[in-house]
Amino acid sequence: MQAIFENGILYNGDALAILKDLSSESVDTVLTDPPYSSGGVHLSARQTAPSAKYQGSNTKRTYPPMLGDHKDQRSFTMWATLWLGECWRLAKPGAPCMVFSDWRQLPAMTDAVQAAGWSWKGIVVWHKPSARPMLGAFRRDTEFVIHAVKGQAKAHTRQCFPGVFKHSVNTAQKVHLTGKPVDLVKDLLAVSQPGGMVLDPFMGGGTTALACLETERRFTGVEISTEYAALATERIRRAEEALK
Ligand SMILES: C[S@@+](CC[C@H](N)C(=O)[O-])C[C@H]1O[C@@H](n2cnc3c(N)ncnc32)[C@H](O)[C@@H]1O
Repeated sequence: MQAIFENGILYNGDALAILKDLSSESVDTVLTDPPYSSGGVHLSARQTAPSAKYQGSNTKRTYPPMLGDHKDQRSFTMWATLWLGECWRLAKPGAPCMVFSDWRQLPAMTDAVQAAGWSWKGIVVWHKPSARPMLGAFRRDTEFVIHAVKGQAKAHTRQCFPGVFKHSVNTAQKVHLTGKPVDLVKDLLAVSQPGGMVLDPFMGGGTTALACLETERRFTGVEISTEYAALATERIRRAEEALK
């Protein structure tokens, strides 16, 4: 199943299966936020429901279940290498790749990015001041974006950007359990080809699509959950109307 928009397309299906059918060297940027399969050292902790892993116990709001978030460490790295390899094939030479990760999965994800053929360029930090405090420990108020390039990087702007972006999670705006702020994704897209095609194989609630709409880029998205694909579709349609 697929939904078509003025500036993009959203497929409802498994990223690996969908990406295999897309044309090589057809996207200008890869920007994605895959399931982290994080939340603990042992398999049992990882296989806890994502709502329990990623939400405070006093949070009342509920979201549809997030799928594909239960892999053990080795299969997570192998799986990430497979889809990142497909993304590499789909990317044009010089395309940037930006992949979200948390602190626990950062080593696995930087391995997978490089094993898939990308040249690793660095890490961007997302500072989220609204993260819950940790009694007697350091607050886990950062997530990371691995920045890589297919071959030689191409500069699309003469602007210079910071390595740390501060954005609070906007609960009112969020439709996904682990939804990212649209403004954060817009900040990241600033290094990408203006008007270019952005690929997000794990679209969730459609944040990348909204950031593309607001920055006049195009998108190709994939989401395996029918519920989240429907929520993203509705959210993108509303954003399209608001921009008219
Ligand atoms: C971390 S969330 C993305 C959230 C998104 N960035 C947002 O702001 O709404 C990852 C998404 O990937 C989806 N997913 C998991 N496995 C998948 C697969 N094999 N193919 C496509 N989507 C998948 C999950 O259902 C989830 O919605």
